[in-house]
Amino acid sequence: MSLTCFITPTARAKMALVDGYGRTIDYVRLAVTDRCNLRCTYCMPKDGIDFVPRTELLSYEEMLRLLKIFKSLGVTKLRITGGEPLVRKGVIDFLKEINNQGVMEGFHLTTNATMTYPHIDELLNAGLLSVNVSIDTLDRRRFTEITRRDKLETVLESIDAFYAKNVPVKLNMVVMKDCNEQDILPMAYLAQDKNIGIRYLEEMPFNGTGKAKPSFFTHHDIKKILTDAIPDMKAMPFEQGTTSQNYTVPTWKGNLGIIASYSRTFCGSCNRLRVTPKGNLKTCLYSKSSLNLKTLLRNGSSDIEIAQHIEQAVQNKAKTGFEAERELFNGITESMAEIGG
Ligand code: 5AD
Ligand code: SF4
Repeated sequence: MSLTCFITPTARAKMALVDGYGRTIDYVRLAVTDRCNLRCTYCMPKDGIDFVPRTELLSYEEMLRLLKIFKSLGVTKLRITGGEPLVRKGVIDFLKEINNQGVMEGFHLTTNATMTYPHIDELLNAGLLSVNVSIDTLDRRRFTEITRRDKLETVLESIDAFYAKNVPVKLNMVVMKDCNEQDILPMAYLAQDKNIGIRYLEEMPFNGTGKAKPSFFTHHDIKKILTDAIPDMKAMPFEQGTTSQNYTVPTWKGNLGIIASYSRTFCGSCNRLRVTPKGNLKTCLYSKSSLNLKTLLRNGSSDIEIAQHIEQAVQNKAKTGFEAERELFNGITESMAEIGG
């Protein structure tokens, strides 16, 4: 009999969090708010969504405790998402605290970059490792149509500042049929002279309306536009734990990547968990909430008990996003801001 038979599930989990299909889960995406100062059409209706009352959000203390528990379970990578993380008051102090207490070794940030410019140094001091900026066009009129706010200049200024301070930058572009296809190439050419990553995302139905669009622009469509214009782009080996198929182009400083977020081609190597602003654990973007962490954090559960619940939820993680989606009774109704990108 192997020795590991005598190790309790939690002790085993402490070494690594492994799901029922043998995938090691070492990456958590923590959404600190569902609020946002933009209203991207693919994310929420023009009047926004029913934002979570502040008391229903996890507090910073609760999030810190949770991150420590995740750390004890072998999670090493942290991404801060939203909504727009910078709209939550005190978020930078929270990030500093994660750093001061050595809870995680730095963090990655997904942001719309409308509010980051004045805080770049503070973010770096708090352990910022890289930034993913959501930007779907370089055309001011289309930017304003897509985000329903006229903020392109501020975003570009912020991207330049991150780049100038050597922060690794990726730009996330959600590609939408009959909307911003014409921006695929201008965005790509940004990577010619700058060492940045351009990431093209398939649109997903997380738009807060409960209605999927009848037609989507797929990863094949995106790739065709790129390869027709840039025939010498070359696929890089698919990296474990990423969702992006990346491409290099000889002589280009940066690279390109296509994320099949709706076609879900990458589930086999998934390594991530999501914590929503309300404190629900989601083991898949397309799954219903797998566990209410907020209740556990507020009902006197011990760290070990919470860790055991997380371990159990991870055990039940669906094999693929399609499998997870089948369990949703009402289909997809959420906004991306409620889940945390
Ligand atoms: N489909 C695809 N991507 C989306 N994002 C937000 N909503 C959607 C959607 N419905 C993107 C944001 C952000 C990333 C985490 O998810 O632009 O860059
Ligand atoms: Fe805000 Fe991001 Fe949603 Fe746009 S996609 S409304 S930037 S949370």
